[in-house]
Amino acid sequence: MDDGGRFVKYTTPLIHKMANRAGGDRMKAKASRLASRIAELSAIGGSGTAVTRLGLSADEQRARDLVGGWLRARGAKVTRDEAANLYARLGGDGPAVLVGSHLDSVPSGGRFDGALGVLCAVEAVETLLDEGLRLRRAIDVVGWADEEGARFGIGLFGSSAAFGRLPPGAATRSDAGGMSIADALRALGAGGDPTLAARPAGSAACYLELHIEQGPRLERAGLALGVVSDIVGIFHGRVTVTGRADHAGATVMGARRDALAAASEMVLAVERAASAVPDAVGTVGEIAVRPGAKNVVPAECTFSLDVRAPREEDLERVVREIRTEVRRLGDARGVTSAIDVLARVPVTSMDTGMRDLLLRSARAVGVDAPQLVSGAGHDAQNPALSGVPTGMLFVRSTGGSHTPLESCELEDAALGATALAIALGELAA
Ligand code: HGY
Ligand code: MN
Ligand code: MN
Repeated sequence: MDDGGRFVKYTTPLIHKMANRAGGDRMKAKASRLASRIAELSAIGGSGTAVTRLGLSADEQRARDLVGGWLRARGAKVTRDEAANLYARLGGDGPAVLVGSHLDSVPSGGRFDGALGVLCAVEAVETLLDEGLRLRRAIDVVGWADEEGARFGIGLFGSSAAFGRLPPGAATRSDAGGMSIADALRALGAGGDPTLAARPAGSAACYLELHIEQGPRLERAGLALGVVSDIVGIFHGRVTVTGRADHAGATVMGARRDALAAASEMVLAVERAASAVPDAVGTVGEIAVRPGAKNVVPAECTFSLDVRAPREEDLERVVREIRTEVRRLGDARGVTSAIDVLARVPVTSMDTGMRDLLLRSARAVGVDAPQLVSGAGHDAQNPALSGVPTGMLFVRSTGGSHTPLESCELEDAALGATALAIALGELAA
């Protein structure tokens, strides 16, 4: 970093040499080490190509222990913070280069979402150590906890805690079984207050994250790597529709306050509102009915809202339209409704210096990487929104994502890990 706080644009001869050796047998060695580690990590919470490794679970802790073990063996100081984030520090004290991703998954997700970013961060650091590069800045390899928010509803949980951006009362949020985040943290041996995980200001010099693209663009373009320009804005909410329980047989159709029938029309309104705005998306992924018996007219229905757009004004527009439709449809059916906002992450631009560095690093391994907007949310939004220079490198993936069909070629992953090593070398070595 020069005095202006910008990252200097140089690559030392050694890093150039590393890049030039990117091909050939070294890449094969990288690919096979990645292959065995992906297999080992996927086995935790895995069955076949599906992985269920939910945030703040014992399985997620086992994943941290596995990754921590690899890095401890290379001399890293491995710790876990009060939000269960894994840190493996190499080099001295002072502001560190953070590099990593998340170790949790969605229920029955894929083997690469999050996990590949952590594995490639480990691979990149090992490459620097194997090349004998001396670190002039500390490196923290991070494994963020509970990025998916699958259990407690708070996405980007661990990185939000690390950058002091948790929603109020996060620790009291509970999963379907009634276990709170505080309980889950205590079950892992932590104190139960994730806000204590907030890093001191200025302790992160910059942040790098490698992640599978989770979409079809790199595959269509026939390219192995991409560089993220921006990450979409995200609105997460929960809608509660309150009707009236009635006897399914003795209640004529005109006299009902059917919460599920009303919610069903609202779900289609979410789809309509998002489809009407270019590049916006709207999804209802969870729905619950109470009391939930076949012969009782539903008294209450809750469903999730996940709305995203690459422009703030579009995201606001879709959310506004959904609010209007929920109210209109509820009134028409005589049911009441409420929308709780669970999370609201703004559209997040990546640092131009970091984007430039990643573009050069991808070119160094022979890929002319396109710049892409990420439709998926990522932990990178938290450092970026906290003023930490942040960059993301995408690796081509196929088969979609958040599904056991998610896949990634190891050669692409090895290219990504090498490009990450070159970027890391420039930032820290
Ligand atoms: O939902 C997302 O975009 C991310 O996979 N958590
Ligand atoms: Mn995901
Ligand atoms: Mn992810």
